[in-house]
Amino acid sequence: TVIWKGLIEGFRDRLPVTAETPVITLYEGNTPLVPAPGLSARTGCDVYLKVEGANPTGSFKDRGMTLAVSKAVEDGAKAVICASTGNTSASAAAYAARAGITCAVLVPQGKIALGKLGQALAHGAKLLQVDGNFDDCLALATKLSIDFPVSLVNSVNPDRLQGQKTASFEIVAALGDAPDVHCLPVGNAGNITAYWMGYTEDLAAGNARKTPKMIGVQAQGASPLVGGEVVREPQTIATAIRIGNPASWTQAIDARDASGGQIRAVTDREILSTYRMLPRGEGVFVEPASAASVAGMLAAVEDGSIERGSRVVCTVTGHGLKDPDWAVACAPSPETIKVDVLAAARSLGL
Ligand code: F0G
Repeated sequence: TVIWKGLIEGFRDRLPVTAETPVITLYEGNTPLVPAPGLSARTGCDVYLKVEGANPTGSFKDRGMTLAVSKAVEDGAKAVICASTGNTSASAAAYAARAGITCAVLVPQGKIALGKLGQALAHGAKLLQVDGNFDDCLALATKLSIDFPVSLVNSVNPDRLQGQKTASFEIVAALGDAPDVHCLPVGNAGNITAYWMGYTEDLAAGNARKTPKMIGVQAQGASPLVGGEVVREPQTIATAIRIGNPASWTQAIDARDASGGQIRAVTDREILSTYRMLPRGEGVFVEPASAASVAGMLAAVEDGSIERGSRVVCTVTGHGLKDPDWAVACAPSPETIKVDVLAAARSLGL
């Protein structure tokens, strides 16, 4: 067996690296493409989940970060900076720690999940909470990277997208072709851009015979790409995608149009109901933003945007443990019992 050593080694000939590039890796990528029998039965489609929560820091950001931090180190950077709704900061902090460089992080105050904040702090990031939203944080981080010696590792950094495109390569390799439809949540719109790049490269390389219809899913209160205008005060419980002015706006629209796909919105109610259903129905626990992709898929099947019989991949972008508050809040609070076998059996309904 070949041992997986991360996606730079795994896809070296398809990434912008040379023999001189230092490889900063936590052995990310090579994540499972898990069949979803419950969702398949419900939709009449052949549905798979690309489980990106299986990456080292629990989200797809690691794909982009291994490359962005490796290239930053190659270019002599001593510090990286990012704005984040949480996952990017957790990933940047981990890869910077691995590289032995400084990581600075700007997050919207009070609007990032506890698990992600904990990760960034555990990895030793210099973290500032900003009295503003993600879009404000990104504007600040961009200015700092221009005026000070610190390298920006948000998805406006092209190396991030290069790393993230490898998820498409893995899906094509696993299925033997591209799926008919690919659904994923959209926030700053880097990931949909990266997936589309990966799929078109695989078509050009002859690894796939087609490209999928790309269905991007935004939260209704933060759906600028659906409404066609910037949302000044984005609102959603899916804090990861609480973004009103996506940096990769035009690339996302291009991916939508070139693929014959769509960008649609789902309500927080739809997100939460899917968030509760996935761990029970499929055994896959994801964070609320990730549930948006599956919620969007269900709505798209419902209105005929996805034909029955289609092969569909939904990327679930981040692990459920990132945002445990929602799991606890959505379930009835557990009963407390005495140390007593009969009482336990009664309460368990055995
Ligand atoms: N899902 C999760 C779990 C995310 O953390 C993000 C983005 C997305 C989806 C959307 O991806 O921005 O490429 O369209 N999180 C960023 C962050 C913004 O700071 O962690 P996108």
